[in-house]
Amino acid sequence: MSASPPRLALEGGKPLRARPFHRWPVFGARERRLVLRALESGRWGKLHGSFNREFEEKFATYTGCRHGITVVNGSVSLKLALWALGVREGDEVIVPPYTFIATATAVIECNATPVFVDIHPDTYNLDPERIESAITPRTKAILPVHMGGLCADMDRINAIARKRGLAVIEDAAHAHGSEWKGRRAGCLGKIASFSFQSSKNLCAGEGGILTTNDTRLAERCRALHHCGRLPNGGWYGHDILGGNFRLGELQAALLLAQFTRLEAQTRTRDRNGRDLSRELAKIEGLEPLARGPEATRHSYHVFIFRYRRSGFAGWPREKFVKAMRAEGIPISAGYPVPIYRQPYFQKRDFGPFHRARLDYRKASCPVCENACREEALWLPQSVFLGPRTDMDDIAAAARKVQRAARG
Ligand SMILES: Cc1ncc(COP(=O)(O)O)c(C=O)c1O
Repeated sequence: MSASPPRLALEGGKPLRARPFHRWPVFGARERRLVLRALESGRWGKLHGSFNREFEEKFATYTGCRHGITVVNGSVSLKLALWALGVREGDEVIVPPYTFIATATAVIECNATPVFVDIHPDTYNLDPERIESAITPRTKAILPVHMGGLCADMDRINAIARKRGLAVIEDAAHAHGSEWKGRRAGCLGKIASFSFQSSKNLCAGEGGILTTNDTRLAERCRALHHCGRLPNGGWYGHDILGGNFRLGELQAALLLAQFTRLEAQTRTRDRNGRDLSRELAKIEGLEPLARGPEATRHSYHVFIFRYRRSGFAGWPREKFVKAMRAEGIPISAGYPVPIYRQPYFQKRDFGPFHRARLDYRKASCPVCENACREEALWLPQSVFLGPRTDMDDIAAAARKVQRAARG
């Protein structure tokens, strides 16, 4: 006779894990020293200090790019990438629907049209099989997101882009240090955009950067984020339409300090993420996303796995999430809807943009719908900074919930 299942914390039992997972953000003397140095320099703006310049060089080199341009956040960097590439009214840009709103908003803000192409069920990244049929004479660019830090299939995306004369912009907001066949995210397309918002693997509260190997494009981005000034132009010379999107020096100082931690943190996350994938794959009803050999490194900004209620006696995903959280595991269900189901898309309220009033009421990406509705489970990156035994706790909590569900 098997023992009766342990009482779930959800029902008043003892939580499997009472200790919190690894703290985030991680900071110490290095951050204090550099931020204080920026403060005491009295040069708090990008134009006058040296922290932004130093960070731009270091981060661009890290990604394998010649150029880096820091900006205020990763939403602005996406918009500037499209802007610099000449995406304009009437153009179409292919984007995945499983992403943060900024990926699509950046396209809207160019008065262009986001065309949603469904994700692959095994990776939750843009499905390369579906891209070509979405290309029209108006398509200007493909904007893959390295979702959660797993690189999109850049070989196939770049091949399609080359064949059809399109630009590829990486949304690498989740992918600091991620690799595709040993090459880092950030240098896998024409230009890339990163975010340094609080939750990101490299963070300064807010911030973003553009990386590229294309010198002309970099110069254009530099002008765009600097009120349209060209490199040798005057202070009141505004050659092109731009804006002030420059990052402050205190944040750049913080980024420089955080950057010294990135490599070691990325290795730890990658190791723990692999281990947890192996452990969860042994549990019926839980399936980590597929990570092919090309994904030589995964930032695990978000560790995503798939829920099958059949493994949990028919429990809906929401009940599993509640039970796991009560056991002390900070799990969530991730994006609630595909981007095109967000209210502003459904209401066709594009603010000052789009006189054409795009209509997404009939848009449908079934794989993404299913991921949002009942399949996806997320764990945040900071969970992967702790010891290997933290992974064991996550798997043990899932097994405990499973035993309780099965009765
Ligand atoms: C995929 C993706 N792209 C872009 C962004 C925008 O970055 P930021 O918050 O720095 O504007 C985010 C931020 O969460 C994101 O997750």
